[in-house]
Amino acid sequence: MSLRGFNPYYRWVFPWLLDRVSKVVAPEREQLLAQAKGVVLEVGAGTGTSFRCYQGDVSKVIALEPDVGVMNRARNVLHYLPEAQRNRVELMIADAMDIPLVDNSVDTAVCFLVLCSVPEPDRVLNEIARVLKPGGQLLFFEHVLSDTEAIQRWQHRLNPFWHRCAGGCQLNRQTEACIVQAGFKLRQVRRYQHASFPVLVRQLVSGIAVNPRRD
Ligand SMILES: C[S@@+](CC[C@H](N)C(=O)[O-])C[C@H]1O[C@@H](n2cnc3c(N)ncnc32)[C@H](O)[C@@H]1O
Repeated sequence: MSLRGFNPYYRWVFPWLLDRVSKVVAPEREQLLAQAKGVVLEVGAGTGTSFRCYQGDVSKVIALEPDVGVMNRARNVLHYLPEAQRNRVELMIADAMDIPLVDNSVDTAVCFLVLCSVPEPDRVLNEIARVLKPGGQLLFFEHVLSDTEAIQRWQHRLNPFWHRCAGGCQLNRQTEACIVQAGFKLRQVRRYQHASFPVLVRQLVSGIAVNPRRD
């Protein structure tokens, strides 16, 4: 049983936790998203924390998010952005497993703490590869299965409980391998442990992958 129906938790506690996490990783977010350019697809845009991070090289941001309540919070964030930033963001209610965009239509895709939460990351990555132009970039920042065996064991053990309490998030994904399996070429990767994160989600992987697909 999912706790999604338990509204007080998902209305107040879970968004508060996400905001806390977002604050901790604000410098990482800014640094990574400064590399976005052209038409950007932000997958699982959440409450819109990334919107202010996109720089002048970005012409449009398609913010894809399946949760209407979360998207309404993103709409509020948008309201307070400077006009030039606000006008380039398009909010799209959709599931990343079936992205309603045509092939080769996006220059940059962004997955920031999202591939842990989607039901089928391989399917999402295939969809991203389809809509990304050949040579387009995927910017990613994800928590993953730990490099430390003892922590891995706890991640596997607690995953069923965590999954229910954290909006479908999985503790033990091997996202870097998934990205490669979907055909992306890793251009930059950084694996590290973030000391300010709880131990179960401390192992992070961040970087840039290129879509090599040609028609
Ligand atoms: C941990 S939050 C991160 C939100 C945002 N990227 C951020 O950095 O603040 C995970 C997000 O993934 C979204 N998500 C879950 N399943 C999804 C799916 N199938 N397609 C697109 N987004 C999804 C959730 O609704 C949620 O907004």
